[in-house]
Amino acid sequence: MLKEEILNLKQKKNALILAHYYQEDAIQEIADYCGDSLALANIAQKSDHSIIVLCGVHFMAETAKILNPTKKVLLPDLQAGCSLADSCKAEDLKKFKEKYPDHKVISYINCTAEVKTLSDLICTSGNALQLIQSFPKDEKIIFAPDKNLGSYINAKLNRNMILWDGSCHVHNRLKTEEILKLKQQNSDALVIAHPECQGVVLALADYVGSTNGMLKFVNNSTAKKFIVATETGILFKMKKENPDKEFLIVPMDEKCSCNDCDYMKLNTLEKLYQCLLTEKPEITLSEEVMQKALKSVEKMLEMSKQLGII
Ligand code: 13P
Ligand code: SF4
Repeated sequence: MLKEEILNLKQKKNALILAHYYQEDAIQEIADYCGDSLALANIAQKSDHSIIVLCGVHFMAETAKILNPTKKVLLPDLQAGCSLADSCKAEDLKKFKEKYPDHKVISYINCTAEVKTLSDLICTSGNALQLIQSFPKDEKIIFAPDKNLGSYINAKLNRNMILWDGSCHVHNRLKTEEILKLKQQNSDALVIAHPECQGVVLALADYVGSTNGMLKFVNNSTAKKFIVATETGILFKMKKENPDKEFLIVPMDEKCSCNDCDYMKLNTLEKLYQCLLTEKPEITLSEEVMQKALKSVEKMLEMSKQLGII
């Protein structure tokens, strides 16, 4: 019933529903497209719909708005934020930048539109390694806001980027103990992890990548069992596309068997329906912020196209 109402409204209003892989199953099921942050930005840029409903978190909806300043961009729950984006306030980054005047700022897409205006380039977990590798080895770079992703890139590419001290409260709490326990009980399982996890966790992984990267890895692997170090929502597509494979989520602690991002899970099917009906809550940004932030976001999409990533 609710699903039918959503589909009717979507058609009537010429709306596009985009969903991140951490959204609840019912939202992923009804969305026109599910993807990682890079894919969602790429599709939003190409959209010719009047309305974009971004079922994800605030920075994802802001990115869609920056790429579509004249369109209505809706987020089912405006409180759907991101602890990583919260860990980097624009005024603090501005002061930090002043200490390193000859450094470029590369920011992970999990940041506010204001932080994007202070950045030379945006990256995602799906393109960070390739984008940063394309800079000369001696390029001076500040990387914000995720210290775990930044450390991973520094180690992988033998770089020395200065890192902002931010992290995601979901990925940062995943512990090696829980993974080792699962590995002991499932010696045939491969470990896959999101680069927002701590370095000690990534060191245990057979594959490290974005949500989309992890999904592709699983789809192409001959292995039958996977220990998954990221948010629980990714299991929906993994199971759907691989009914013959088994997935073990790394729990946040001994008491809980899941690993949910409370922000992502604020969006519900009911809120998606209300949002299409009322065309609220809408993402609004000043012209100045949109114009400035567009430069670093567009640069990311252009480079990703040139490098054959999208
Ligand atoms: P992806 O771009 O890999 O989907 O990651 C987004 C995110 O917020 C992970 O916590
Ligand atoms: Fe932000 Fe972490 Fe949630 Fe991703 S999982 S949206 S980084 S709080």
